[in-house]
Amino acid sequence: MKVLLLGSGGREHAYAHYLAASPLLTKLYIAPGNGGTASLGQNVNLSPTNFSDIHTFCIENEIDLILPGNEDPLVAGITDYFAEKSPKIKVAGPSKWCAQLEGSKSFSKKFMARHAIPTAAYKEITAHNLKDGEAFLDTLKAPYVLKADGLAAGKGVLIINDLAEAKRELRNMIQNDKFGAAGDKVVIEAFLKGIELSVFVVSDGQNWKILGSAKDYKRIGNGDTGLNTGGMGAISPVPFATPEFMQKVEEQVIIPTINGLRQEGHPYKGVLFIGLMNDGGNPYVVEYNVRMGDPETEAIFPRLQTDMCEMINAIASNSLNTVELSLNPYTAATVMLVSEGYPQEYEKGKVITIEPNEANMIFHAGTKHNGEELLTNGGRVIAVTALAPTLEQAQQKVYAALQKVYFQGKTYRTDIGNDLLET
Ligand code: AMP
Ligand code: GLY
Repeated sequence: MKVLLLGSGGREHAYAHYLAASPLLTKLYIAPGNGGTASLGQNVNLSPTNFSDIHTFCIENEIDLILPGNEDPLVAGITDYFAEKSPKIKVAGPSKWCAQLEGSKSFSKKFMARHAIPTAAYKEITAHNLKDGEAFLDTLKAPYVLKADGLAAGKGVLIINDLAEAKRELRNMIQNDKFGAAGDKVVIEAFLKGIELSVFVVSDGQNWKILGSAKDYKRIGNGDTGLNTGGMGAISPVPFATPEFMQKVEEQVIIPTINGLRQEGHPYKGVLFIGLMNDGGNPYVVEYNVRMGDPETEAIFPRLQTDMCEMINAIASNSLNTVELSLNPYTAATVMLVSEGYPQEYEKGKVITIEPNEANMIFHAGTKHNGEELLTNGGRVIAVTALAPTLEQAQQKVYAALQKVYFQGKTYRTDIGNDLLET
């Protein structure tokens, strides 16, 4: 199988690693890829959202399957584009219609309402009903949650403690284009209490299977303080995702979501990332994403014992029922090494050295080669993962392993997983 993988982060390095390990893979291209993917396949300089260039490349290189790693090409409709133009080239990802689950907060809230999927109460606000938005905020208790409707590179959600400030920010988003066109429509949500986790489901439209659970750590600082980032670490599985809780997730969230999409004429093919709040043992959907998470992928994939090519091909070929997903019961701990200053200003081009350490896994996020040298090339630089029988052992192992990676300004959280340790 010849595969074109789209993206350039740690998630894509993890995909590339496990695709390359499959005997079914004959050739792997990654567009645009990074310093880590370069040793597993051929990096190609194509933009994941330039469908016509991707199409030409796929024809010339006889690609069988395209695997979009991040949401941009999916929300822009890559799956529909190829289904129409070259149906023989499979795309392992949802249609443009389904990708609105991530691409539009308003779309996903309406979908959940239609199918009685538990989620926070909300109201949708545009320039035409700004007053209703202020009145709705008056009915809520602090903190207040404001979300730009469209994709805003993970930055479109504001959580505000003060009512007057929430009203000011609402006007700012709608009237002053705080998030550009993504914020022309704003979803105001009631604040959900509880502990957050993510559940990953793969579906071929008919069949679905749970790929695993993970918790990610979004803030830059220890103890969940400071600015939001793309993700500073992850743990999989999540200890509080008990069989009883997961059964509720299946019955109340996964089944109505997959069946609801199919009943509405849009069967879901791909990975569905369900962000959940566990409030007293009950699940509430915070968000859907239409792809794997980053860095959750770097924690979940090392546990997956199923052949990656087989799984991805089954998603795209309606044959997930023939594939058994099996997960190592060990715990994976992933810590992201970032550039000093991230998520604000940081420098690139620092030399990276990695001492070989066979027991652990290294996934490149923002790196590139310059001749023999490996250089930092982004805010999130390298994800290090360790797998061990217990969370505590996985933490010890990963924190020992990341000492073997050096670059100037190397920054990381030292508390990944601490909140999940049993007291
Ligand atoms: P989203 O992009 O919708 O996932 O929101 C980003 C983050 O904001 C989530 O991961 C949560 O930590 C937080 N968040 C979003 N919506 C809510 C909510 N209704 N209640 C509490 N926290 C929320
Ligand atoms: N780690 C969160 C995300 O991938 O959206």
